[in-house]
Amino acid sequence: METQDFITLYAPATNDELGTIPACSQAQIDEMMAQATSVWPEWSQTTLETRSQLLKRWSANLRRDAENIAHLLSQEIAKAYADSYKEVIRTADLIDYVADDALRMNGEAYRGDQFPGGSRKKMAFSHFAPLGVVLAISPFNYPVNLAAAKIAPALMMGNSVIFKPATQGALSGVALVAALVEAGMPENLVQIATGRGSVIGDYIVQHSAVNMISFTGSVGIGRRISQLAGMIPQVHELGGKDAAIILDLDQPQRLVSELISGAFGYSGQRCTAIKRIFVLEPIADQLAALLTPAMAEITTGMPETNAMVTPLIDNGSADFVQGLIDDAIEKGAHVLFGNERQANFLAPTLLDHVTPDMRVAWEEPFGPVLPIIRVQSVEEAIRLNNESEFGLQASIFGSNIEDIFAIAPRLQVGTVNINGRSERGPDHFPFAGIKNSGMGTQGVRRSLESMSRQQMTVLNLK
Ligand code: NAP
Ligand code: G3P
Repeated sequence: METQDFITLYAPATNDELGTIPACSQAQIDEMMAQATSVWPEWSQTTLETRSQLLKRWSANLRRDAENIAHLLSQEIAKAYADSYKEVIRTADLIDYVADDALRMNGEAYRGDQFPGGSRKKMAFSHFAPLGVVLAISPFNYPVNLAAAKIAPALMMGNSVIFKPATQGALSGVALVAALVEAGMPENLVQIATGRGSVIGDYIVQHSAVNMISFTGSVGIGRRISQLAGMIPQVHELGGKDAAIILDLDQPQRLVSELISGAFGYSGQRCTAIKRIFVLEPIADQLAALLTPAMAEITTGMPETNAMVTPLIDNGSADFVQGLIDDAIEKGAHVLFGNERQANFLAPTLLDHVTPDMRVAWEEPFGPVLPIIRVQSVEEAIRLNNESEFGLQASIFGSNIEDIFAIAPRLQVGTVNINGRSERGPDHFPFAGIKNSGMGTQGVRRSLESMSRQQMTVLNLK
């Protein structure tokens, strides 16, 4: 009889023990995969209304339990309680939107005689069919929202799901699925493969039962998965180095608010965080003078205080971020604010005179550090933006919309935000990264489409 191993999880902010999750073995994963394979054909025969009603019950349970789930999530990933609660409600809204939007997805119809020599007696129409077993792998920083953003569309399109949550965040993922089970989910339709990705990751992504992979996480893991998984559809949402290009200081208070929240929300642990500023030299001193006092207003502390900057997910992450700061300082960057650390808590840090020879100009911190890079021209800002290995989002702030629209199409990113911070939400917007920021597109409708295939039916009349 195999003994079950477990992983104990601790709160990043207090090191309090939070609970345990099973460390699934390959044999247990095989069993899950077999069950997922056997359950989806029957599920795929249910009506869209049946699926939609299950998701609506799921979201209702999440709204009912939002405070408890948010409290757990906040402890588990050191996210401000208020932001954790917003994540749960945002997830319920997402699930409801998925449940409704799938009902509006129509196929296509074709006539044979639309093509030269074709017959009027031959016609074709398509409908959305499931892929089978969807492997959903989610990151630590949105353990509920980015999990449901995969699970909900997979279910609506008739698939079963193997859900691999981030280990730090898995308790929240378990709570998310428990709400679905309580809503009446058919047995084994969604199963949770808990365990460290470094131990079970390669095994699950290469498993022959998997028909589609939806991954959100770091570039390194995403690239590994894309090379191992073989010939199945994949969607990857990966890292970012989103730049904010500052053309002028129009509406300074709004600009500062967008830059601060965009860079330091959830301690900068957002793929869409603003991770570097390009500012034209003539206004750079003024921008620095606007941002520096605003840095002092950033709330810092424990998650239950709803601070913007809380302890990072672990000490390793804090070490990495501090290394970027230290490298920049050694190479001549000016610290305008911050550069203080206690264990895995880093003070929000603003660096000026950051130059392209510094690591922080290019690497993704996933922490509370914002580098200001002074440029001599818009052309230089565009070039530096496009030289990044990443291409998730960018922001352009300015008062001249013609100038902005001349720049936007030249930025090699998935999304350009105009006079607003980079962000994924709202969740029905298509969301995609290019280059090392990802492959494929999320966002409700795109996720519904990527977790299904168009099956053609051709009718031949006598
Ligand atoms: P991560 O370390 O890549 O982990 C992401 C997920 O992959 C986790 O569930 C992890 O499990 C799992 N994993 C680890 N090794 C694996 C392997 N060999 N095979 C399969 N799965 C494996 O990323 P993270 O630290 O959770 O999140 C931070 C990163 O994700 C940042 O780079 C951020 O930019 C990116 N991100 C991107 C988006 C987006 O939408 N573009 C959104 C959020 C985050 P374990 O936890 O057990 O290791
Ligand atoms: O890193 C998670 C990514 O999905 C960010 O979401 O809405 O905070 O931009 P959002």
